[in-house]
Amino acid sequence: MIKELLDNGFLHLTDQTEEQLSDLINSLGEVIFTTDVVVKSESKGMVTSTRGLDFHTDHHKAKYIIWYCYKQTDLGGDSILIDVEKIYQQLSDDYKQQLKTIELFEHKIFPDDKESYPLVATDEKGNRKFYYSFWLVKNEDKQNNAMLDFQRLIKQTKPIRINLKERDILIVDNHRIFHGRTPIEGSKDRFLKRFWLTAKKL
Ligand SMILES: [Fe+2]
Repeated sequence: MIKELLDNGFLHLTDQTEEQLSDLINSLGEVIFTTDVVVKSESKGMVTSTRGLDFHTDHHKAKYIIWYCYKQTDLGGDSILIDVEKIYQQLSDDYKQQLKTIELFEHKIFPDDKESYPLVATDEKGNRKFYYSFWLVKNEDKQNNAMLDFQRLIKQTKPIRINLKERDILIVDNHRIFHGRTPIEGSKDRFLKRFWLTAKKL
């Protein structure tokens, strides 16, 4: 299971108990933040709205994101994933270098969060790690050619699409896989629990 996660950057498991969920969490790392992903009417927050969400990472402190599905809406709400390491490899060397100099606005959650954080950084093991949300790109970088090419490749890539069912688990490597979702339609009684994890040494 862990090997599949390391190879693909994500793992989808079906029909898991809450006990299996907590075993999995303990084997991967430590939970730093938990969120109920539900639809709240009149929600200003993106996560709790019914809107579709374009590709992004969550907070960079989360190495893994785990979602546990308690209930799925009867229309929409698909999880969509793309492997950004593969996209980055398609860029020219010049654009790769340029992206390394770009910082995005910080997704401020934790007390020591700074104003901004790099789009491409390196983790303590020397692996590339990405941090990106289209709404956190600074104005001065919006017309940068490397950024535009990166976004064009994201748009052109066919995503992996998963409709989580009750008791499903989805894990993504938040430093490598961008995620999003399609609009939540139909019954809208979708309920996922989301966990942000720091990584244990695997
Ligand atoms: Fe997210």
